[in-house]
Amino acid sequence: MGIALNLQEARKVYPNGTEALRGIDLVIQEGEAIGLIGPNAAGKTTLAKLVVGLLEPTSGRIELWGSRFGQLPRSMKEKIGFLPEGGSPFESLTVEENIIFWEKLYGISKIRGEEALKEWGLWEFRKKRAKTLSQGMKRRLMIAQVTLHQPSLLVMDEPTSSLDPVVRRTTVDLLRGFANSERTLLITSHDLFDVERICTRIVILRRGLIVAQGSMEELQRKLGATQQVRVETSVPIPEGLRESLEKRFGIKPLAANELLFPTGHNRGELIRFLVESGVDINLVEEKKETLEDIYIKMVKEDEER
Ligand SMILES: Nc1ncnc2c1ncn2[C@@H]1O[C@H](COP(=O)(O)OP(=O)(O)OP(=O)(O)O)[C@@H](O)[C@H]1O
Ligand SMILES: [Mg+2]
Repeated sequence: MGIALNLQEARKVYPNGTEALRGIDLVIQEGEAIGLIGPNAAGKTTLAKLVVGLLEPTSGRIELWGSRFGQLPRSMKEKIGFLPEGGSPFESLTVEENIIFWEKLYGISKIRGEEALKEWGLWEFRKKRAKTLSQGMKRRLMIAQVTLHQPSLLVMDEPTSSLDPVVRRTTVDLLRGFANSERTLLITSHDLFDVERICTRIVILRRGLIVAQGSMEELQRKLGATQQVRVETSVPIPEGLRESLEKRFGIKPLAANELLFPTGHNRGELIRFLVESGVDINLVEEKKETLEDIYIKMVKEDEER
């Protein structure tokens, strides 16, 4: 598998002087699913637009499959899909006409267009004009359009925003399926739960710079996030037992019926100890830090610096 995207020292200064990206180094392998997250104005949309050639970097180099966008052959450009942040379909065309437009542009079959309408729950609305659709339905139509030609590189700026929970789940599942194959995905999002479910690597951007990146596990490790295990007992832990828990395992109960300890502990030994001391267990659960926990910690730390 080769390199799909390579950004070296990519900078973008807008004509009004705003430095939106201040030197981005990022290599993305084919088949990776990258989640670009960060506060408002971090530069996510700017980066997405640079990648698909809608903006030129002020300095630095951006290559797709080893070539600058301008040098890419047409056949390669056709393998890109881009969902813009605030884009909208052709308002005065019907849903179906919008899809037909893109079918013709991509030179793909009508069957695929019909499939896409059904896949995205748009079939029954196909005769409606796009301007009469709700925000979420428009978003769905846009997603159907940009995935119609099954691109090898799909760049999506906030794909799940304004979708209802059911459609959002379908979208996440479809994108996860997309990401599992040989294709490359780059999404920006504020829905950290979605990013966690879709992406293999997360890139945190702040004020035009990458402040952290890695898989969920790598980010958790980097931030010293401790995974914890929570044990709920069926009866309050007796006073005497509390002391031996602290002595033997270094654990102080959180509440009368509750214990929390780092995953590093030998939980089998601890549970056996509790049961043998006459305390039954109701529940044992892992408490993992979510991407949201990591993100908030990360951005706060960075702000305090
Ligand atoms: N066309 C433009 N002209 C001048 N400045 C711009 C332009 N587009 C974006 N900016 C500025 O560049 C910076 C990065 O904006 P960008 O839209 O890339 O951020 P973002 O991370 O996508 O934010 P959000 O989460 O709000 O979508 C911001 O300071 C923004 O004001
Ligand atoms: Mg944006």
